[in-house]
Amino acid sequence: MKSLFIPFITFLLPFAALAQTRTDIGLPKPFFTGEKSVEETIAARRTMRHFKSKELSLGQLSQLLWAAYGVTSRDGLYRSVPSAGALYPLDIWIAIGEKGVEGLKAGIYHYIPGAHKISQIRKGEVRLEITRASLFQNWMAEAPVIFIVTGEYERCTRKYGERGISYTYIEAGHVGQNIFLQAEALGLSAGIVGAFHNDLVRQALGIGKVYDPMLIMPVGYK
Ligand SMILES: Cc1cc2nc3c(=O)[nH]c(=O)nc-3n(C[C@H](O)[C@H](O)[C@H](O)COP(=O)(O)O)c2cc1C
Repeated sequence: MKSLFIPFITFLLPFAALAQTRTDIGLPKPFFTGEKSVEETIAARRTMRHFKSKELSLGQLSQLLWAAYGVTSRDGLYRSVPSAGALYPLDIWIAIGEKGVEGLKAGIYHYIPGAHKISQIRKGEVRLEITRASLFQNWMAEAPVIFIVTGEYERCTRKYGERGISYTYIEAGHVGQNIFLQAEALGLSAGIVGAFHNDLVRQALGIGKVYDPMLIMPVGYK
């Protein structure tokens, strides 16, 4: 029995270490009223490629994540964007830089919409790696926070077959526009990047092949 137990514990150790490195951070509740009208935010939206090195508040980050993919129904079934069959095949990841968001350490975080929290999956400054993965678009690393939207096609193709792939891309577009408009409404600005190497982005985030990067959006003060 003992001879089986020790290899089993050794097998589990890396998983235990991984669990310990994940830090979950609850986000402030989003608010539902703002100072700018939808029309004003649409008219003002522009792809921004220069950012001040000014940190965002946790409240601003919370609001951006909620607008991107947060839950908007009491039963928890529906989100801020439409989704074919309400299957929600996307994931939102954020790369936070040093002094990027008040109270948060630099690293990669995964957004968990149901609990409206983020979970740190990688520590350290990763923005430059993302910039390199994006054909050296250096301006991206100026932003205190970089949003990365990935798609897991299987969640959609298991119901819709091949069409599920285009449905996943369409949904990523909705998320992108919500991030743009929410950033504007908060007095911030966003950029958008589609030119990147998918494998290098996955490597920078430390995520598996099942997640296909679709959009990268640096956000900060203009
Ligand atoms: C799918 C997609 C990919 C894009 N990729 C990049 C990019 O890699 N780098 C960049 O600087 N801008 C990129 N853009 C931004 C466009 O250049 C920009 O939206 C366009 O010039 C219109 O300007 P506006 O967004 O300020 O209205 C991308 C936009 C979209 C929708």
